[in-house]
Amino acid sequence: MEVVIVPDAKAGGELIAGAVADLIGRKPEALIGVITGSTPLPIYQALAERVRAGSVDVSKARFAQLDEYVGLPADHPESYRSVLRRECLEPLGVGLDAFIGPDGTATDVQAAADSYDRALVEAGGADLQLLGIGTDGHIGFNEPCSSLASRTRIKTLTEQTRVDNARFFGGDIDAVPHHVLTQGIGTILSARHLVLLATGEQKADAVAAAVEGPVAAVCPGSALQLHPHVTVVVDEAAASKLKLAGYFRHAYDNKPEWQGI
Ligand code: F6R
Repeated sequence: MEVVIVPDAKAGGELIAGAVADLIGRKPEALIGVITGSTPLPIYQALAERVRAGSVDVSKARFAQLDEYVGLPADHPESYRSVLRRECLEPLGVGLDAFIGPDGTATDVQAAADSYDRALVEAGGADLQLLGIGTDGHIGFNEPCSSLASRTRIKTLTEQTRVDNARFFGGDIDAVPHHVLTQGIGTILSARHLVLLATGEQKADAVAAAVEGPVAAVCPGSALQLHPHVTVVVDEAAASKLKLAGYFRHAYDNKPEWQGI
């Protein structure tokens, strides 16, 4: 696992947008796994700037959603399909024809989960999966003690996650759904490159547990240690509890330039 410590969220967004752009340059039809929340916004902004500047052409790229609330109408402003459309796809000039995601409105939720997991496999799997991390260590919405082998399925959010996400629902925790469809940890680990961005002091404990703690379902983010190509990008605050921060800085500063992240 590579850990890159950046000065701030903007620098993290630029670094990751650069990696996405390089990938699309090598493989124009790449499948990019995209996420919601506050963390990825600097990535989408930096990538949109590159599209506007003409330095990357995303017209053949494809995008796949990591997770979705169960029961929110697809056109609800906080459904993850709406959020991704607004914050990621539209700024990039990408239409819904290049986008796949789980159906959080399905009556048969498990069938919808299975069908999305199959769709990801049929699409060739994500070439690069963006990730954030919850304050409780979740990746996607694989909450603590999720199976490390899990595939896409329904999960119940922890109260901590619902409190964290209430800010997107006007601060009203009762408006935050209890359930989500999320790619499982096994599904996430099937992507070819995992890139996790974490910013802010409130993520420092989760980052330390995921990067330096034991691999354990109690911290789903620790499953990243099982993947051969993971890049964890953290700002100074999110890196503040890493014991090996000095080594991570040294390794990145001395990395061969051709290697990229
Ligand atoms: C969102 C997702 C979640 C978030 C995590 C952090 O699609 O899968 O794992 O990445 O909850 O959220 P923020 O970035 O809002 O702190």
